[in-house]
Amino acid sequence: MNRSHSPHQPDSRSAAIDLLEAVLDRRRPLDEALHSHHGLHRLDGRDRALARLLVATVLRYRPVLDALIDPCLNRPLADKAARARHALRLGAAQLLLLEQPAHAAVTTAVESAPAPFKALANAVLRRLAREGAEKLAAIDRVRTAIPDPLWQGWAAAFGEEGARRVAEACLTEAPLDLSVKSDAAGWAERLSGRLLPTGSLRLDKAGSVAELPGYAEGAWWVQDAAAALPVRLLGNVAGKTVADLCAAPGGKTAQLAAQDARVIAVDRSDARLDRLRINLARLGLATHRVTADVATWRPEEPVDAVLLDAPCSATGTIRRHPDILARRAGLDRAKLAQTQRQMLVATAQMVKPGGLVVYAVCSLEPEEGSAVVRQVLAEGAPFEPVPIATEEIPGLPQAITPDGFLATRPDYWSEWGGMDGFFAARLKRR
Ligand SMILES: C[S@@+](CC[C@H](N)C(=O)[O-])C[C@H]1O[C@@H](n2cnc3c(N)ncnc32)[C@H](O)[C@@H]1O
Repeated sequence: MNRSHSPHQPDSRSAAIDLLEAVLDRRRPLDEALHSHHGLHRLDGRDRALARLLVATVLRYRPVLDALIDPCLNRPLADKAARARHALRLGAAQLLLLEQPAHAAVTTAVESAPAPFKALANAVLRRLAREGAEKLAAIDRVRTAIPDPLWQGWAAAFGEEGARRVAEACLTEAPLDLSVKSDAAGWAERLSGRLLPTGSLRLDKAGSVAELPGYAEGAWWVQDAAAALPVRLLGNVAGKTVADLCAAPGGKTAQLAAQDARVIAVDRSDARLDRLRINLARLGLATHRVTADVATWRPEEPVDAVLLDAPCSATGTIRRHPDILARRAGLDRAKLAQTQRQMLVATAQMVKPGGLVVYAVCSLEPEEGSAVVRQVLAEGAPFEPVPIATEEIPGLPQAITPDGFLATRPDYWSEWGGMDGFFAARLKRR
């Protein structure tokens, strides 16, 4: 690996380039890359935050940055020059999107470029320092940042203007949302947060989560305000047995367990279930864990309720996971929808007659949400829909569809910092 800094003295820019290589060239999820990058953990908090900001900015606006960089190259960069391209993207992002002083942005980007490309990086970035702002002004950066398949789907679902609002929100950093075990108002005061109408707590500037009051004693956990909604649709679950399908890392499991439900947390990944175990242990909550594939797992006896948080394209979470723009845009959503339908049909064999099933996905795409539910019902699965009433989700009437489904969007509650895009439907076993 070609680095201008010794691996023993990590710096935020070389760490950012490593992370871009992991995500864009080796197609690893950003969270996983952040977690396993050793140098990053040796940086101080400020440098770590800078590395995260640089990577997120490049992942959000990569096509925009490339449209600025490419005309400055005499010939295209070879594939093996991936690190040089990432250094150029970082430099251009610092110069033009994060508006850092030109001298510092150019110098640090040139330093982090591999030796054979330093002169090229210097020439390109100096040119961008002179001409880039004007060129950037001529680019529709929101439209350019979003891959065509995603934009077309959003335009069909939300109209052109709606798609633009959704896209703008997706490209904006998300605030930190917490779900609290109890005394939400008290924790809002202690953490100087905003208590949202649905009961989640929102913090604008967080710093290190583990250093916030209440973390060590397990008073709350990190969960987007929209992600906290599907569990609410099950109503009072105290004393009930609930199968939480695709449960890890356990945000929804914690909600169910905090309400004294007997939770069976099912996930096919042992490693992720271990994360769930650690997360719930911090919160002092108990749950029964099962490593199994939802398609074939069945409970020993039918349960009172099922929550299915199905695997999906996760386009509703692009704000916190900008790597989805690069990694998931070309996903085979028809295949995904087939898996989602199979999983939903399987829940009919898990739940008692009269019991509720909530189907949820953190996706903005109707083919993974309403279309899945409609098709499963049309094909005769033994469910009837139980429409969601606007009063059940305070302050979000716009998220309840005419069919009584829940569909949140990143541009909802934009005055408070938005929310993830989630779809949820509630069905009753006949
Ligand atoms: C969207 S995440 C779930 C988030 C979780 N419900 C929460 O609230 O924290 C998706 C999870 O589904 C699991 N998964 C994917 N396909 C599965 C399958 N066929 N059977 C069981 N788990 C599966 C993955 O391992 C992953 O942990």
